[in-house]
Amino acid sequence: MLIDTHAHIHFDDFKDDLADVLSRARKAGVKKLLAVGVNDTDSERAVALAEEHDYIWASVGLHPHDADRGDRALEKIKELAKNPKVVAIGECGLDQYKSDTTHAQQEYAIRYQIELGLELKRPMIFHVREAFPDFWRIFDSYAGIKGVVHSFTATDTELQEALERGLYVALNGIMTFTKNSDQLFAAKRVPQDRLILETDCPFLAPMPVRGRRNEPANIVYTAEFLAGLRAEPKTELFDASTKNAETLFGI
Ligand code: NI
Repeated sequence: MLIDTHAHIHFDDFKDDLADVLSRARKAGVKKLLAVGVNDTDSERAVALAEEHDYIWASVGLHPHDADRGDRALEKIKELAKNPKVVAIGECGLDQYKSDTTHAQQEYAIRYQIELGLELKRPMIFHVREAFPDFWRIFDSYAGIKGVVHSFTATDTELQEALERGLYVALNGIMTFTKNSDQLFAAKRVPQDRLILETDCPFLAPMPVRGRRNEPANIVYTAEFLAGLRAEPKTELFDASTKNAETLFGI
């Protein structure tokens, strides 16, 4: 059994065949899913989907790319976060790689969401791209944050910084096709009790389905690849990542 901890299955990409996508996921052994929101209206859709299925939960948040939506969006997310199917806050974070929003907007939005997570005692799903020094500055100004660095593609340095702070690390299909040896080195070094898995579908389809629309069933390819990379028995890695996701999100 596997858990897809980061699936945008409420996106329009799946509107024509969601039932088939979900049935393929369950046949592939994906027994639980987290629908992760990226802004206020999208988070509302994630929550609605979670309410329809007992094996789907939601995370609500404002992605750094949407950080310019400001207070109105953040207040909506705060309201949605009180829904019992919402088990995390995010994705939220900092993206200095490619974004139309300013650093100030991103910092405002991540601080608001961290404070919401602390208030509601919910774990955070963080998106951090080329922004770790700023991210740690903000993170370290709070105590007691729980969460995961999603789509982790940084090096062993950032990995150790995340582990020291008690964070989980989520790996996805990027690992199956990256040629970056630092990324693969870090992926091997994630302790088994801190590793969780995700697809980030519809994006980032793993090998051998790279380039197509990604979907939760494809998490198996990533899990099998990582078991090989890390020289761990498949069932051991599958079970550990599942247990970690259940522990972190309380699902
Ligand atoms: Ni995502």
